[in-house]
Amino acid sequence: MADGAFGLSKELAEETAPVWEKVKDHVTPLEWPEQARLISEINRLKRERDAVILAHNYMTPEIFHGVGDYVGDSLGLAKEAARSDAKVIVQAGVHFMAETSKILSPDKTVLIPDLRAGCSLASSITGADVRLIKERHPGLPVVTYVNTTADVKAETDICCTSANAVQVVEWAAKEWGVDKVILIPDEYLARNVAAQTTVGIIAWAGHCEVHKRFTTQDIADMRDAWPDAEVLAHPECPEEILRAADFAGSTAAMTEYVEKRRPKRVVLITECSMASNIKGDVPEVEFVGPCNLCPHMKRITLENIRDCLLHMQFEVTVPEDMLEKARLAVQRMIDLPPPSKPARYDLVKARHHVDVELI
Ligand code: 13P
Ligand code: SF4
Repeated sequence: MADGAFGLSKELAEETAPVWEKVKDHVTPLEWPEQARLISEINRLKRERDAVILAHNYMTPEIFHGVGDYVGDSLGLAKEAARSDAKVIVQAGVHFMAETSKILSPDKTVLIPDLRAGCSLASSITGADVRLIKERHPGLPVVTYVNTTADVKAETDICCTSANAVQVVEWAAKEWGVDKVILIPDEYLARNVAAQTTVGIIAWAGHCEVHKRFTTQDIADMRDAWPDAEVLAHPECPEEILRAADFAGSTAAMTEYVEKRRPKRVVLITECSMASNIKGDVPEVEFVGPCNLCPHMKRITLENIRDCLLHMQFEVTVPEDMLEKARLAVQRMIDLPPPSKPARYDLVKARHHVDVELI
């Protein structure tokens, strides 16, 4: 019976009202009734299936606030996958994240709502490429960004994310007793890490198709239009973008920055949904700026999450021998002492003339 708000039943309107409060700046009253029904159905299916939804910070607000049991950056999601005692993990994110969950929780069923949710970084390199790189640079540790496929991780000594890349690179150099490490496949992350450390970096020319589109002109335009806005950038952006920003860090570090400091106005130089998601928790902050969407992240919708739980599709698996090798690299990263807070890139102390050897 439609006796609640938006033509919903009273129970459903009440159940979903807290989510509406968080998403109302981004979802229209016309869209909401269908979304509210899906959110309720998904939350019921999760209980029936003993499932958790691990949702990345780039999910749309109705997924992020409506059905995500754990929301966060790549590092946080990986740690949660290792920790969770649910039988089923639904990865509301891209394929490499689901593979990472499977690698860390081989006994669980890991599902992704759309198998086509890829990543330009993950598809820039293969395990065979890494074997060739190792032949060319024997004795150097291989650090790979988690944005890679399982066959690349299987050729890796230790993984990293943007939240711990500097820490991991310095750990690997010390552990191997060398002054250079291989950090692949994100060229810009490698250059931004190189600016934070004296460890030499050998990099691969892979790029995030979302972050590479931002330009310094975008930032100059934002600063002209809103001189009081603080500019936060993700380290997958080119170096000149970080130089023009006020702060750089992983998606979790950017969230923490905004939630703690509550600036009046913020420009987030990263995937567009981030701003909509944080806004739900800090409505007094105004988010302005360019909107670049990740087409892969945007393949995940409430509809396909519902179908995923309903039909238990699509399962993500990793061949056993590959999984065992990849697990060493991911587990090594997880086992490093956690940073006291999400790592930030120190833009004041950054060395700006860094030699990165590009393969
Ligand atoms: P983080 O969430 O680790 O900052 O990574 C961003 C990203 O591009 C994931 O695809
Ligand atoms: Fe990959 Fe970039 Fe999309 Fe993240 S935002 S999934 S790095 S393409």
